Amino acid sequence: MYTQVNGPLPGPQSKVLLDQWHNYEADVTGYQAKVVWDHAEDCIVTDVDGNKFIDWTSGVLVTSVGHCHPRMVKVVQEAVAKLINNYESPTEYRIKAAKALMEAVPKHFGKCFFLTTGSEVTETAMRLMKRRTGKFEILSFQGGFHGRTFASASAGGLPGPKRSYGPTMPGIIRAHYPNPYRDPLGFCDDGPEFKKYFDYLDWLVTTNSTGSLAGLIVEPYQGSGGFVFPPAGWLKRLERWARERGILFTLDEVQALYGRTGKMFAMEHEGLKPDIVTLGKAIGCGMPVSAVVATDDVFSCLSKGELSSTLGGNPVSSSVVPVILDIIKEQHLVENSAKMGAYMKEKLQAIADKSKYLGCVRGKGLVMGLEFVKDKATKEPAPELIHGLIDACAANGLLVGSVGAFGNVIRVAPPLTITREIADESLAAMEKAVLSLSL
Ligand SMILES: Cc1ncc(COP(=O)(O)O)c(C=O)c1O
Repeated sequence: MYTQVNGPLPGPQSKVLLDQWHNYEADVTGYQAKVVWDHAEDCIVTDVDGNKFIDWTSGVLVTSVGHCHPRMVKVVQEAVAKLINNYESPTEYRIKAAKALMEAVPKHFGKCFFLTTGSEVTETAMRLMKRRTGKFEILSFQGGFHGRTFASASAGGLPGPKRSYGPTMPGIIRAHYPNPYRDPLGFCDDGPEFKKYFDYLDWLVTTNSTGSLAGLIVEPYQGSGGFVFPPAGWLKRLERWARERGILFTLDEVQALYGRTGKMFAMEHEGLKPDIVTLGKAIGCGMPVSAVVATDDVFSCLSKGELSSTLGGNPVSSSVVPVILDIIKEQHLVENSAKMGAYMKEKLQAIADKSKYLGCVRGKGLVMGLEFVKDKATKEPAPELIHGLIDACAANGLLVGSVGAFGNVIRVAPPLTITREIADESLAAMEKAVLSLSL
């Protein structure tokens, strides 16, 4: 057994610390299992009471190579002892990071630039699209999530990050993102050309744009929106639509990158060639690093001094970038994601078949969503089940988080190192929790 839960949660130490936490820090984050993490190794998290859990969160799709991978720990310790920060001048760490990253991305890209968070790279991608074209409108998608800063939240299509934070940035045109599970407009099974959808998109842009559309930003699947995967071929058709309109195409792979979907980059599933790709989360596996990668043509719009960051490209964060890429290759994590993802999806579907409330299991590789509904026929969302389910999973030794436009989706995103044994133990925990649900 990998897991061990010694009593009701929170355990006594966790309880003391959780109470203390909210004396000092605002209680504004989302709902999580009542557990204070102490340390973690690979897929196993140990809390301050010594309880052990299997992690299906990977932070939030961050620790793809497993928690505290010994090679990452070693390189960070070495880097920290040498140089913690510098500014706008290269270090060997930063140069090696950029080289390794550019060798890993598809060949049509020209250069990268390092920043710190996903929100920052969204902002930078939007700025690049506007700067390169001299235009100011951006097309984005309902249900999308690109970050919590002002422009990235404005591009996003979820109300949460921008509640009372408006009016949001002008110049954003938001379109429908096709969702095969909820498709009242019939956009998803309309043939390989998606004619109905693209007629709608033409109409939307024609009636909303002032003629200043610079580009679009889209996620290969909508993570925060509820792990919504568009129908196969839609992204490729969208790319063609962008080319026909003469606008730039940004793919937000902040969470989809590095094997998460069973390919090194999600763009590989349909051979997409975006002008810009935004990368975050697993490129640092917990160290704060993100990157915007673009064609030379896109970067040519910036002159010296136009892009910079206090912490972006710092030696400690940069030190892990090539090491993570090595680990992914050496441990065959992309292949493991495809294999274990298929295995877990089949088992999860079997749980759904037995459950009254698990309406949809969807995903690619090791990123899946479990959508809970009150009734499988009406598909009415059942967000009221989610907190209880998170707690029940934790009581069974499994850590999960929730997402979704309706707050009714559980995330399945373990480290890509997960083995059959760990998967089986965690699936049993999930099955027990799901089958105990009632409304
Ligand atoms: C697709 C996507 N883009 C951007 C972001 C924002 O990243 P960050 O929280 O690092 O700013 C996220 C975070 O969840 C994300 O999932």
